[in-house]
Amino acid sequence: MKIAHISDLHICSEYLPQNLDKTEFLIRMALQKNIDHLVITGDISHRSLPMDYHMFRELLIKYGFYTPDKVTLVFGNHDIYGGVHLFEEIYHFLDQCKKINPLSKVNHLGRVLASSFAGTTRFDKNNFFPFVKIVGPVLFLGLDSTAPYSYLKNPAASNGLIQNKDFALLKHILLNKDYKDYRKIILIHHHLFSCKNSKKPCTGNITDFIERQIMKLHQRKKLIHYLKKYPVDFVLHGHIHYNSLYHIGKTPVFCAGGSIEDEIDQMMKLNIINIENGRIKAWTESFYNEQFTKEIPRTAEHKHSTHPSKMYAY
Ligand SMILES: [Fe+2]
Repeated sequence: MKIAHISDLHICSEYLPQNLDKTEFLIRMALQKNIDHLVITGDISHRSLPMDYHMFRELLIKYGFYTPDKVTLVFGNHDIYGGVHLFEEIYHFLDQCKKINPLSKVNHLGRVLASSFAGTTRFDKNNFFPFVKIVGPVLFLGLDSTAPYSYLKNPAASNGLIQNKDFALLKHILLNKDYKDYRKIILIHHHLFSCKNSKKPCTGNITDFIERQIMKLHQRKKLIHYLKKYPVDFVLHGHIHYNSLYHIGKTPVFCAGGSIEDEIDQMMKLNIINIENGRIKAWTESFYNEQFTKEIPRTAEHKHSTHPSKMYAY
């Protein structure tokens, strides 16, 4: 089974129309790579507008990915709260965030993209999350890491949180004997490293400090403890806008936040996880596209071609 992982598409028909085209490009590349299943780890829309989800769903239908065995997704902070595009919108945005009920928004979006959630096992009858979906040899475990808006703990609506009730379910799922033969892949939006370990060079100035306060996952250390203690084969996430593969204990973790434009090298990215004969191989394909990719100095080899990263095997 070959899985493509993308994230942070930030589709925005109003202000960022190219993001839908970039998403289509990535889906076409996934088809070219003979992908069996597409995973999206949140921030599908930039402003959480109904039109953006409609266009995204149409793309999945167009390329044959809008069936439960072909697509699995979780939501991100932008899907719940939206985001600002113009500076003068900030005050209105924060005012709106206070009025949003994240649970009802998640459940609304779950119904909008119903095919992704069809056939999932849910453990809380009032919530689409956490869920388990079994596709071939894989058990996808979807977590909702969006946090309630809070003036102190989530001032820009972009921090995450794993709630205590979800930790209990996480343990229950990971230790469930009925699931023991599946490769377990956790899907979550927020990243699992602290911002001081970010791949982006730290400038030490005030913007770094602010970014650390508004881009963190509350209960991150507890989640890391669970990942080290219970059997998990892979974690897939987004949120921070570059791609990377790192490890928590022995568990590999893929970030696909740079799918539409990696902020380190401006390339477009597709994370790939191939599961065959019980073995997992993982790598990232990078794409230069004349229409979308920013012009920065790069070798001729990197232009007009796709190139894979180092391959990891588990
Ligand atoms: Fe995000």
